[in-house]
Amino acid sequence: MRIAVVGSGYVGLVSGACLADFGHQVTCIDSNEEKIAALKAGVMPIYEPGLDQIVAKNGKANRLVFTTELGKAVREADAVFIAVGTPSRRGDGHADLSYVYAVASEIAANVNGFTVVITKSTVPVGTGDEVERIIREANPDADVAVVSNPEFLREGAAIEDFKRPDRIVIGIEDERARAVMTEVYRPLYLNQAPLMFTARRTSELIKYAANAFLAMKITFINEMADLCEAVGSNVQDVAHGIGLDKRIGSKFLHAGPGYGGSCFPKDTLALVKTAQDYNSPLRLIETTVAINDQRKRAMARKVSRAIGPDIRGKTIALLGLTFKPNTDDMRESPAISIVQGLQDGGAKVRAFDPEGMEAAKAYLSDVTFGADPYTIAEGADALVLVTEWDAFRALDFPRLKGLMKEPLLVDLRNVYRREQIARYGFRFVSVGRPREDINAALSSAAE
Ligand code: UDX
Repeated sequence: MRIAVVGSGYVGLVSGACLADFGHQVTCIDSNEEKIAALKAGVMPIYEPGLDQIVAKNGKANRLVFTTELGKAVREADAVFIAVGTPSRRGDGHADLSYVYAVASEIAANVNGFTVVITKSTVPVGTGDEVERIIREANPDADVAVVSNPEFLREGAAIEDFKRPDRIVIGIEDERARAVMTEVYRPLYLNQAPLMFTARRTSELIKYAANAFLAMKITFINEMADLCEAVGSNVQDVAHGIGLDKRIGSKFLHAGPGYGGSCFPKDTLALVKTAQDYNSPLRLIETTVAINDQRKRAMARKVSRAIGPDIRGKTIALLGLTFKPNTDDMRESPAISIVQGLQDGGAKVRAFDPEGMEAAKAYLSDVTFGADPYTIAEGADALVLVTEWDAFRALDFPRLKGLMKEPLLVDLRNVYRREQIARYGFRFVSVGRPREDINAALSSAAE
């Protein structure tokens, strides 16, 4: 099958490369000439484990090509994926659909024969209707079926998620699209990934509902973590205890500094706006958004409290800056609010991240970057674990203790346990786990 993928960002590139790996003939298109030139040279615009190998392998086999020319690829394609960005619109938080609509017009001018046009970008309910209207208005002879097929790719695990999905959701209005989409995903279907066909508007909403639910789940456990700290309970045990209930499930119950990234913050906001427009507000999600925003800044206060009454002039070293490990993505990362909060309090901030330091420079100022955890720990008053990269899972604590001014670890991802750290003479503060002072207070209250 001949497939064109418009937009070679995160979603477009991973989808295009994996579809080629399934054996389809794929052309990835992007208007950014530099990006296409780099991709042709085998240089990935994003850090995603395994992506460069898949691109190289399928490029060699001539199943995956890159171009800035949309026309030819669309004319030859049986299926055209729209995978351009839908950023939050400045000012009002609605999804900005101008790139999607511009691509729809270009597709209209070039389609040839029956073509399935698929929106893979995350788009609000009704966008498929609008894409279809734009194509039909621009080219009344166009024989197209417009389909919704949202992505559920996690950064850092995107290839695995594409190739072994929990489900594939496909929203169609034209029955002819069913056969084409089944063919596109046949290799996965053979792997028994459920292919769920539904109406287009329903498919569009499933994507937002899934992300909003997951964001709510994280926010739930984050608030529970605060309560655990107040009452002397352990949030990891609470998560385990509720997660064993199959109706709840154990995933996405890791308490931390708040969710970030390119999807949850943007999609929850866009869903809230859509719901308000339809006079059907989603109060749970509105509250989730507000709690998560406040939590990121609150993490700076947590670090300050751990250090002492005043952080002015203190040196604080951050381990990890990206919104999660295995990505160089800094978008909406909790680290941004944490750094700002600490700097506002007068602290000097140093940081190390295995992949994100280049990207971080655009978001942070006055931060001293170091080559590894030990360089930034030298003379520091506190070490703060912000992102749970594997490289931070087995730190050399005796060495760190020798380097730091004060041996204090604030672990915002609960990578370590107090017993592990205390024996090296470190003070330890984590998320949603009993604090030493609370334990002492509770046990003396019980006596
Ligand atoms: C998410 C969705 O998982 C994916 O299906 C969708 O298509 C795009 O958005 P992604 O943004 O790559 O993927 O990351 P994800 O792994 O979901 O994590 C999002 C944020 O939530 C991160 O900041 C992460 O640290 C945080 N998180 C996640 C928690 O704090 N606790 C958890 O238990 C899980």
